[in-house]
Amino acid sequence: RTFRIAAVPGDGIGPEVVAAGRRVLDALAAETGAFALEWTEFPWGCDHYARTGRMMDADGVRALRGFDAVYFGAVGRPDVPDHISLWGLRLAICQGLDQWANIRPVRFPPGVTGPLRRDDTAELDWVVVRENSEGEYAGLGGRNLAARGPGSEVAVQTSLFTEAGCERIIRFAFELARTRSRPKVTCVTKSNAQQYGMVLWDEVFARVAAQYPDVESDSGLVDAMAARFVLNPEELSVVVASNLHADILSDLGSALTGSLGLAASANLDPERRAPSMFEPVHGSAPDIAGRGTANPLGAIGSAALMLDHLGLAKEAARLDGAVAAATGAGVLPADLGGTATTEEVTAAVIDRL
Ligand code: NAI
Ligand code: MG
Repeated sequence: RTFRIAAVPGDGIGPEVVAAGRRVLDALAAETGAFALEWTEFPWGCDHYARTGRMMDADGVRALRGFDAVYFGAVGRPDVPDHISLWGLRLAICQGLDQWANIRPVRFPPGVTGPLRRDDTAELDWVVVRENSEGEYAGLGGRNLAARGPGSEVAVQTSLFTEAGCERIIRFAFELARTRSRPKVTCVTKSNAQQYGMVLWDEVFARVAAQYPDVESDSGLVDAMAARFVLNPEELSVVVASNLHADILSDLGSALTGSLGLAASANLDPERRAPSMFEPVHGSAPDIAGRGTANPLGAIGSAALMLDHLGLAKEAARLDGAVAAATGAGVLPADLGGTATTEEVTAAVIDRL
């Protein structure tokens, strides 16, 4: 079967890692003959913004609707304010296509132990499930409220939690937990300090958890959870949290592998009314862009998540296996303590497909 994929490489190292992921996917398609990919590239991002005043075409979200999936790099450049690049492209796509579930797995491939200094990292395997449509990133609020001159500005940034929004992401987390070797969901909130939205979240969690007696559950406050990620990661399987909390915890989770460069993610519309989007967790890394040293494994892992979503679980596993074989053979990029370039890591993965 042929899948139509929209590639949105974006800025900085985005195009470098997206090119690497595309090469690996095309090699896997040729190797297995199980599928074919038809790519359309959208040159959106900060260059497009400099030319047109927009991060993407005005009807861009609509243009993406016809594809089977979106493969995304990263956005952001030092000369464009981050809230403009992020809202103008990445959040515009996620929210425009209602990709309400963001999943961010954390795993330690062979040869990658990170800063934890544990000898059981190979057994650690958890996934952060992030509410991706509302919460702290609902975009509600305003500036210059009640300003009466310099120094008096008030800004409000409101979080939005709907019962339906909490319920769908929490239920998604429990369904995901059922497919894992360790069926457990950990709920993260800050309901001691934030007494409205977070308490609603906790209540919905308790109600949904009661409907999944076969899935273990527990909960904690986000600050304590940050400590647990570092000190007791073996207790984690599926972690479900709000947009902001899960954003932070998933960066922490991937940093525990030694670098943000390894972390993969999927922005899913689980109801499949629109294409889902697959992207590395990291940003455009302007500090290393153009050098050919970016770690492509986050983008390659995201490609595996894309295959899985397209119903190609066997091919996704084969790709993950090739990555494990490459890192296990000591082929590691600079951010993971090795010397391999983007090109060398990509070639090493392709060799082991
Ligand atoms: P970043 O993730 O781009 O970089 C943080 C650090 O990690 C840098 O030192 C970078 O060199 C390193 N790093 C990241 N990915 C790497 C990779 N694949 N290989 C090797 N090293 C890697 O985050 P930062 O610096 O906070 O943001 C830079 C820009 O990216 C900003 O404009 C920001 O808004 C944007 N950004 C975009 C995201 C997205 O498109 N999803 C997510 C996060 C940030
Ligand atoms: Mg982030």
